[in-house]
Formats: sequence, C-alpha cells, structure tokens
Amino acid sequence: MKYRKMGKTGFEVSALGFGIMRMPLKKGAKNDKEIDEELSIRMIRRAVDAGVNYFDTAYVYHSGVSENLLGKALKDGYRQKVKIATKLPLDHVKEPADFDRVLEEQLARLEDEIVDFYLFHGIGAKGWDKIVKLDLIDKAEKFKKAGKIGHIGFSFHDSNEAFHKIIDGYDKWEFCQIQYNYMDTENQAGMEGLRYAASKGLAVIIMEPLLGGRLARPPKDIAAKFNGYPAKRSPADWAFQWIWNQPEVSTVLSGMSALEHVEQNLVSADSSGAGTLSAEDVAFVESLKPEFLKRAVIPCTKCNYCMPCPSGVNIPWNFEMYNEGIMYDDFSAPRFGYKHWFPDKEKADQCTACAVCEEQCPQKITISEWMPRVFEELNKS
Ligand SMILES: NC(=O)c1ccc[n+]([C@@H]2O[C@H](COP(=O)([O-])OP(=O)(O)OC[C@H]3O[C@@H](n4cnc5c(N)ncnc54)[C@H](OP(=O)(O)O)[C@@H]3O)[C@@H](O)[C@H]2O)c1
Repeated sequence: MKYRKMGKTGFEVSALGFGIMRMPLKKGAKNDKEIDEELSIRMIRRAVDAGVNYFDTAYVYHSGVSENLLGKALKDGYRQKVKIATKLPLDHVKEPADFDRVLEEQLARLEDEIVDFYLFHGIGAKGWDKIVKLDLIDKAEKFKKAGKIGHIGFSFHDSNEAFHKIIDGYDKWEFCQIQYNYMDTENQAGMEGLRYAASKGLAVIIMEPLLGGRLARPPKDIAAKFNGYPAKRSPADWAFQWIWNQPEVSTVLSGMSALEHVEQNLVSADSSGAGTLSAEDVAFVESLKPEFLKRAVIPCTKCNYCMPCPSGVNIPWNFEMYNEGIMYDDFSAPRFGYKHWFPDKEKADQCTACAVCEEQCPQKITISEWMPRVFEELNKS
C-alpha cells in the first residue's frame, strides 16, 4: 500500500480509503439494511490486512446500520490499525443538544470511544448557515477537547462558491471530503476547490471517484477508447490513477461492493502516486470527458433563458438529469435522484406545452416535445 500526507493532521493515510456505503446485501434483501455481514467483514478485514487505514461511514448509510457493521468488522484487533470517519447528519439536528445525542449514538453503534475524523455531512451553503446559527463548531471543538472526536471536517455537495465560503468560514478545518473524478473537474468544489483546500493545509478526501460506479462501466463507444489506447488499464483503474496523480489529494474513497473490487483497487493503489502518470496518460483520461459530454442528446447549456416556466417546471434540471442517463448509458442514478430529491412541482410532467420557453431558448430546443419523454424515462422505477 502507498501512503500519503493527510494535510495538517500529520497522519499518513493509505492511498485507498474504504467507503462503507455500498456494502453487499444478503440474497433477496428487501432493503439496504440487510447487509451480507460475513462477506462485508471479510472485505473490510482484507483491506486492513493489505494496509488500508481509513474507513468512512455515516449515521445514515445503509439506513443507519453502516456504523454498526464497521464497529463489528473492526473487532479482534483491527480497530487499532485504522482511523474511522463518520458524519453528523444535519437533518437530525434541530438544536445543539441533538449533536450530543447523535454522537453518543454513533459511538455506541461503533462500540468505540472516539471518532478519529468527524465530518458535518454533505453540507453546502444552507448547511453551513445552520452550523453557524446553532454554533455547532463550538460543540465539535468541545467534543474534540473531551477526546470524543479526533479531527473536525466536512463533506461537501454544492457550488464552488459555497465551498470557498465554508473553507474561509472557519480557520481550523483539518480536512474536507469532495466529490471528484475526471468528469467533475468543474462541478461542485472541482479542481480549483481541491487545490484551494490543499493550499490552506486541509487534507482532501475524495468521494465518488468512479461517479458511483458509472465510470467503471462506460458505454460501448467510450469503452472502445480504452481498448484503443496503448497502455492497458481498466476504466476504474484509469479513473483512480488520474486522481492519485494529483498531489493535493490525500486519500481516495471507494465504495467497494464486492471482494473483487477490493482486490482490484488494492492493486491499483499499489501502483499509484502523485505525478506518476505521463503527460500522454493524463491527456488520454481528460479526453474522455468531452466524449461523455458529446453523448448528451439535448443541447441545453443551462443558460436559464427558458426560466421561469409559468407552470413551475425546472427545465434545465430536468434536461440535465435526462442527459446524464444518456451520457453514461445508465439511468439508475438520475432515476433515484428524480424520485427522492427532485420536487414534484418542478418535474417535467407539469409542462402544459404552452411553449413560452421555446421562444426564449437560444438553442432552439423543442422543449415541450421533450418534456413527456424526459418524464417517462426519469419516472421509471
Ligand atoms: N459525504 C457524502 O456526502 C458522500 C457522498 C457520496 C459518497 N460518500 C462516501 O464516499 C465513498 C466513495 O464514494 P462512492 O461509493 O460513490 O465511490 P465510487 O468509487 O464512485 O463508486 C463505488 C462503486 O463503484 C464500483 N466499483 C468500485 N470498484 C470497482 C472496480 N474495481 N471495478 C468496477 N467497479 C467498481 C461499484 O459499483 P457497483 O456496486 O455498481 O458494481 C461501487 O459500488 C462512499 O462509499 C461513501 O463512504 C460520501
């Protein structure tokens, strides 16, 4: 295993970290609580034995049982070899005392006395305002002093502007966790955010390096690009190496869901390192992004000229999710998002085909014709 600096914390973290969010489920499982514990524990221990020393869980993963699983897996002397990270779900915090309750519950689930790396979970500008309003940083510092938390950080999903606001809002952040891969260089924190956080001494943990698995199983035309390139690596390996090549990165979390993923990603990590890819290799990986983007069928540029829609449809967002499904030849993530996060009153089926938007669209998209197709595809279960 290769190890990397974890920013100002001084910890030497394994290049590969393990995200406990996508563990294998029992055969016929009816929900994601029904983890295949025996296999999951084997996967976690295999990773520790091979030198992985950073495990990332959260209060809400696997509907609340991920922390329990990790606690169990790290018995028999495994806990002493690793650092664990878990997160505060702000949805569960209405007043500061809720932080005490959640943390105590997490320590009980983990069967532990300390969380080495503690994150405010998935925050953006709104989450940050709540943290400030409820003075939760002060509480986190108290928990740190009391030895219940090792290091204070946050995981992030919002704009680059919000990322700067959060980083600049507290001068003692020790680490942050961002969604980052060769498709997300200008999305969310992006490459600029990665470099900015690292320049401030923060350790930067990477999540969704394979875009939840989609970069590991590219559509045929993109798979052909991998096959045609002289150096041979799997699509997953290329995606990981491109991230590890960047010195600002501390560890790359993978949400491994099978023992083969653990074995393959351990091999990838062993050949990783900042600055180890050739300029040609970097250019090859970066040439894939426009190839994926070219696959999008609706030429929406998100200029927002079509908005506001008189019926409340969020036209650019509907198009973005549809295009995402087409780009990766995989509608599972957009459909999940449509069902769970997309407000019903902004969905494509609210379109009355008044076509006011079409007069405004510089790309001349026949929006009213697309809307029923977009809804039909995204609304499938
Ligand atoms: N804090 C937050 O807001 C937040 C959000 C997202 C993630 N996270 C954390 O970050 C971790 C990493 O993110 P992620 O799980 O989205 O990572 P990811 O690496 O982008 O996606 C994981 C998926 O990639 C596939 N995969 C992994 N290794 C592979 C291999 N060698 N070959 C082929 N496919 C492979 C698997 O997909 P299949 O199972 O489909 O085969 C796996 O479930 C999470 O587990 C979680 O701990 C945090």
